[in-house]
Amino acid sequence: MVLLSNVIAFFIRNHLLTVVEGRASSQSHSINNNPPAISYSTGTGGWEHALVKANAFIARLNLTEKVSMVTGDNGPCIGNIAPIERLGFSGICMSDGPTAFNRADLVSIFPAGLTAAASWDRDLIYQRALALGSEFRAKGSHVGLGPVGGPLGRHPLGGRNWEGFSADPYLTGVAMASSVRGFHDAGVQSCSKHFIGNEQETQRSNTVFADGTNIEAVSSNIDDRTLHELYLWPFADAVKAGTTSIMCSYNRVNQTYACENSELLNGILKKELGFQGYVVSDWFATHSGVKSANAGLDMTMPGTIDVESLSAGTGLSYFGANLTTAVNNGSVPMTRLDDMVRRIMMPYYFLGQDKNFPTTDPSAMHVLAAQYGASLGVPEIPARDVRKDHAKIIRKLGAAGTVLLKNLNSTLPLKSPKNIGVFGNDAPDPTDGLTIISDGSFESETYGYDIGTLDVGGGSGTGRHSSLISPLSAIKSKAQEIGARVQYITSNSRLASNDFRSIFPTPDVCIVFLKTFASEGRDRTSFENDWNSTAVVNNVARKCPNTIVVTHSGGVNTMPWAKNPNVKAILAAHYPGQESGNSIVDILWGDVNPSGKLPYTISEHESDYDIPVTNLSSVTAVDEWQADFTEGLMIDYRHFDSKNITPLYEFGYGLSYTTFSLSSFSVSKLVKNPPAIPDASKAILPGGNPDLYSPLLTASTKVSNTGSLAGSTVVQLYISLPQDSVPAGTPLRVLRGFEKVALKPGESKDVKFTLTRRDVSYWDVIAQTWRIPRGEIKVSVGFSSRDLKGEGSVTVLSK
Ligand code: NOJ
Repeated sequence: MVLLSNVIAFFIRNHLLTVVEGRASSQSHSINNNPPAISYSTGTGGWEHALVKANAFIARLNLTEKVSMVTGDNGPCIGNIAPIERLGFSGICMSDGPTAFNRADLVSIFPAGLTAAASWDRDLIYQRALALGSEFRAKGSHVGLGPVGGPLGRHPLGGRNWEGFSADPYLTGVAMASSVRGFHDAGVQSCSKHFIGNEQETQRSNTVFADGTNIEAVSSNIDDRTLHELYLWPFADAVKAGTTSIMCSYNRVNQTYACENSELLNGILKKELGFQGYVVSDWFATHSGVKSANAGLDMTMPGTIDVESLSAGTGLSYFGANLTTAVNNGSVPMTRLDDMVRRIMMPYYFLGQDKNFPTTDPSAMHVLAAQYGASLGVPEIPARDVRKDHAKIIRKLGAAGTVLLKNLNSTLPLKSPKNIGVFGNDAPDPTDGLTIISDGSFESETYGYDIGTLDVGGGSGTGRHSSLISPLSAIKSKAQEIGARVQYITSNSRLASNDFRSIFPTPDVCIVFLKTFASEGRDRTSFENDWNSTAVVNNVARKCPNTIVVTHSGGVNTMPWAKNPNVKAILAAHYPGQESGNSIVDILWGDVNPSGKLPYTISEHESDYDIPVTNLSSVTAVDEWQADFTEGLMIDYRHFDSKNITPLYEFGYGLSYTTFSLSSFSVSKLVKNPPAIPDASKAILPGGNPDLYSPLLTASTKVSNTGSLAGSTVVQLYISLPQDSVPAGTPLRVLRGFEKVALKPGESKDVKFTLTRRDVSYWDVIAQTWRIPRGEIKVSVGFSSRDLKGEGSVTVLSK
């Protein structure tokens, strides 16, 4: 019989081994000699009512209870705040993650953030979060640990890029806001993560060697302008949408750990952006008590213990009893502790979680035990089924997030092949079970399992499937329906050795399924798809002149086979979630017309990306891990544009089975002579100075479906600031609007865009505010970052 405490111990140990690579040092380094003052919540921007209730709650708490409200405890969830029974408070349960309710049974596996972003469909992104949020609520979890706005995607090989949305901050910002709303409308708190600069997994946490030497986590060294215009932008949107919590990340930022960085937490997040909710540490990312609390960390997780105390055997949390002492001796003011609790309770009341909130699904511990190969020694409790009809939205979004990259001779949609070939280890059902279990073996950690389709990545953002439709099984069902046969080889080693003896006659169409594993805790090491993908594609294409390649991937891939004339069509299907096979069949046979667009750039050559993950060997100096973000704003398409590199497939690109055109473009000013900077006397609301979001320009265009099939396209708007009146390092053009439009054949629709002050400003590091540059701002609309059809210009402020 295995006791509950043993399961928890397994769990913590697993976390320590896979999530936190070591013990923190007691010293932290800051370049900031004058940290901002503690930033208190004000309740403005819709939180007023919740603030009153939170204050009433705090008034009834004693010091021990207040401390327990900000210190994680043991419990059934990945993060737990203990109940206070005498006040009828039943505690707070936090669960991963952004793609599925993780470590639970009878839940749905949704399309990844990256897939959602590739749909460029605000409504579908919202529907995804609403459905996912409703699963959290039905399982009794108050907080869903998502959405992910960082990593943004500085590195194409970043291990967690798939959990987030896009390498573009505007698209990610829209997706963050839609997701926050979806979670909240389901009655569940959002936790926007990871704040900030967590762009690589390699050395994301510190390491302690056997002799006790401590090597600090990587420091993301980000200049002020880059921080504001790139990495902070989506978090500002999340805060504006009312995100209830923000998770500070493992890494250091400009030498100071993110969770004790007063400049970031008190200064930027709470003061400048007016964030009203609470900052929770990533698990074991807290490295100090007094310093973190005063810097703006409101809740430590998992909290019962910190890594230092675990190694030292003292079993203490930085908060808990230590925080009680700190408050008693005045190192942390009582007003600060009250604000920590206030910030935690405001979201709870804001979302009405004090009333009729479901109890936590009691199967949680049994599922965890199974996941760690244990058993509780008592009959298993079946899980609460929370999936409802979510398979429908999953199937729809999986197809909507699939990008058609190539379609020679209108190979797709398939006409009526009678002999279908399916190839590749990503096509069939997994042979190792339906859940990615971290087993410590290098190969499965790096590439996932060999045989079996990949619909979601690994780490805390994954989930346990109760259903997974593989491409091979969905194609077989379709073939049965239409009276076709299916031949297949799913061993990549056989395909790579060019052994096709089992195939006869040569199929009318050969569909190759490739995969690329990506997971928390490690960055990818290869640009190409995994498992010898290039040899696999080239060999199938040699055998079969009508080859189609489908990739299931957690990010950017190079495609050395893309120009092979026998590769007639390419589909980037990302991580589509549990309905994977159905989503791709919908696209292949044309039940759904593809409308996804790349949320990143696919380059011709690996070297075109130019921003490698910082990966040092033989580090001996405590501070050696430094990632200097010297490229500034030039990541992804901004980098390709600035260096004039032609990509293979550019940001925003994606084909359809029909064709579209744009006409009648115009842009005009809404405000005659706006001041260059926002009015500093305005009260800050969640999201920052409200002036930033006031509309300044409108643009409009007409989009028409010029083909013979119904379909949707994404009209994209880019702006170019006047290069002669902005600081060096300003990108050639940036995305500042998009609309997904559905059109019948021959139909046209008007598309309108509204641009705000923030959209046409840059961050002025001297004045410490957003500034509209003087001179002509170019505004273009088109179907990708390089397929611009209409262009105009407008002078907001003359020179
Ligand atoms: C670490 C991950 O970075 C974070 O995203 C997750 O929410 C926590 N662990 C809890 O599992």
